[in-house]
Amino acid sequence: MNILVTGSDGYIGNGLVRKLLAEGHTVHCVDKKIFYNLESDGVSGIVRPCDDIKDITVEQLRPIQHIIHLAAISNDPAAELDARLTWETNVLYTLQLIDRAVKAGVPQFTFASSGSVYGLKDEDRVTEDLELVPLTDYNKSKMCAERILLSYRDKIGLTIIRPATVCGISARQRLDVVVNILTSQALKNKTIKLFGGDQVRPHIHMSDMHGLYLAIIKNPKAYQGIFNAGFENLTNKELANLIAKSTGAAIVTTTSNDNRSYRLCSDRLLAAGFVPQHSVDEAVNDITNAFKNGSLKDGPETQSVQWLKSYYGK
Ligand SMILES: NC(=O)c1ccc[n+]([C@@H]2O[C@H](COP(=O)([O-])OP(=O)(O)OC[C@H]3O[C@@H](n4cnc5c(N)ncnc54)[C@H](O)[C@@H]3O)[C@@H](O)[C@H]2O)c1
Repeated sequence: MNILVTGSDGYIGNGLVRKLLAEGHTVHCVDKKIFYNLESDGVSGIVRPCDDIKDITVEQLRPIQHIIHLAAISNDPAAELDARLTWETNVLYTLQLIDRAVKAGVPQFTFASSGSVYGLKDEDRVTEDLELVPLTDYNKSKMCAERILLSYRDKIGLTIIRPATVCGISARQRLDVVVNILTSQALKNKTIKLFGGDQVRPHIHMSDMHGLYLAIIKNPKAYQGIFNAGFENLTNKELANLIAKSTGAAIVTTTSNDNRSYRLCSDRLLAAGFVPQHSVDEAVNDITNAFKNGSLKDGPETQSVQWLKSYYGK
């Protein structure tokens, strides 16, 4: 199948591209390569129609059977660095992409939104039907992109995924997402600083994130609509305990005046047939082992916001 992955060289995208190539797909990759590029690791055989999603043409989209749209300015502080570029990238270019995809006759569009579109919720079951109260430019841009995409749902197959925070190893490593950052700091400082501890956050392992996109590509009809994707809602204390067990670091607890929680209920995804197979514990152990055996280093490109500052010349 001809599959277009935008954000193909990012934290999630590069591993997904490798898996798609291994399954025999023709993979069209569009990425500005801000942090990493697949070719630097010897990945070959991909099609590169252009680098910036804003430049893709209807002609280049004609052979595509499924778009996995991951390209974005992808977290809160990075989004705030250049709000205009964030809104252009995450919303305007998403609108242009689906519009051109419809014109080209692409049958299916899958979008990486974010579980953060709900804002902070008291409900134990944060389902897809709850009101969205996004708090930051990043969250708001994802909500607006969703609304635009939904206006095209009668013209193209559409899947919107709202992932929890992803954890685990990638060739474009991010150490600015919670599990990864706490594990790397535990190894470096031999302590885990825990503020409060009862706040709940949802997580998804990188391999399950990839597995989900692969499942949607295999059977898009089963996954039409909006789906949360987060399979472990852990308190910060539970997460710190996992990391302490894997790294040997000590937990230092201080009080926090921010005890708000945010969970995800992914029952709709489970009902569609998706079966998660990996855990946060596994991601923590993988990161610990990768640091210990030297295959993972804490380089400047692992912190999206610092890296983008120099990329933007700020
Ligand atoms: N990582 C997470 O925990 C998480 C959680 C929820 C949702 N998401 C979403 O999943 C997607 C992928 O996230 P990630 O962690 O891999 O982020 P990432 O920042 O590692 O990857 C994003 C990629 O998009 C590229 N890009 C940015 N602007 C572009 C443009 N105009 N044209 C082409 N490429 C462009 C960047 O070069 C980068 O490689 C994003 O949409 C993100 O919002 C991620």
